[in-house]
Amino acid sequence: MRILTGIQSSGRQHLGNLLGAILPAIELSNVPGNDSFLFIADLHSLTTVKDSKTRRDNVRATAAAWLACGLDPEKTVFYRQSDLPEVAEFTWYLNCFTPFPMLANAHSFKDKSEKLADVNAGLFDYPVLMAADILMYDADVVPVGKDQRQHIEMTRDICGAVNHHLNDNVLVSPEASIAQHVMVVPGTDGQKMSKSYGNVIDVFLPEKKLKKQVMSIVTDSLALEDPKDPDTCNVVALYRLVASAEKVAEMEANYRNGGYGYGHAKTELLTTLLERFKAERQRFDQLMNNPQEIEKALQLGSKKAKVVAHVVLQRLRDRLGFGPESTPS
Ligand code: TRP
Repeated sequence: MRILTGIQSSGRQHLGNLLGAILPAIELSNVPGNDSFLFIADLHSLTTVKDSKTRRDNVRATAAAWLACGLDPEKTVFYRQSDLPEVAEFTWYLNCFTPFPMLANAHSFKDKSEKLADVNAGLFDYPVLMAADILMYDADVVPVGKDQRQHIEMTRDICGAVNHHLNDNVLVSPEASIAQHVMVVPGTDGQKMSKSYGNVIDVFLPEKKLKKQVMSIVTDSLALEDPKDPDTCNVVALYRLVASAEKVAEMEANYRNGGYGYGHAKTELLTTLLERFKAERQRFDQLMNNPQEIEKALQLGSKKAKVVAHVVLQRLRDRLGFGPESTPS
């Protein structure tokens, strides 16, 4: 089964990204028999990010986080979307089979065009580029979040339109795989952890800065000696996601008994984060200090991706009547 998914190149990846997306995706890519394509969607980022340095920095930090978390560039096809500009050609072919109203009525386009000042045609065509990302690799399964469901439906519709026109299954229709139990990771203020809320914990930060984030977790103001409720505390909620069952039970008991302050709990959480992500933190720093190592991984991926993409692209070009006629086999 070929599994493919795109990663937004949004820069530094926080604990919510790690636990909710990166680690589960890497696990899935390690299942024997799965042929896994993971790419950094930097072409999509041009719809909103116009600054070149920001884009490069974001791609680098995103790739470093994935590699640091154990993505194996030998086993997985891990690449940068823009290293295969062929996808822009593929997008054009698909564009000409995509009904205009389908794009105009897409939820994400409506949302974005209401919120953003710059409503460009790239934003409008975003789902077709995404369809090309998927269809150019004959992907069978596309693991995505709920918010991407409509994009996968559009991909299937566009695929159906092409196949119908050509009267043949030239393109492979993908299935969405929507994670049902995505881990909800609370941020330092108790809301869902998100860069846009400014409540993240970034486990790749140097220890001092990470400590500052952990210490900023919002709690109530009960005194050290007071008994506390572990079930309403953000520190415990985060601790549960990273500590062993015994350690969690220990902290819960400490809370109920009193004489244990939020400062103690935060220190314990920090220690656990440093320990649990020790190897990842080291690897991340090493990669960020050696960008050529990141580049090497991405180049290997794009080489492998090209082999697959060129077969599919040639199939479509041929069937649409582009280029010299191929000799029938
Ligand atoms: N649009 C996706 C997101 O916002 C990222 C993405 C781009 C993607 N191309 C893709 C996901 C292809 C799956 C398949 O998360």
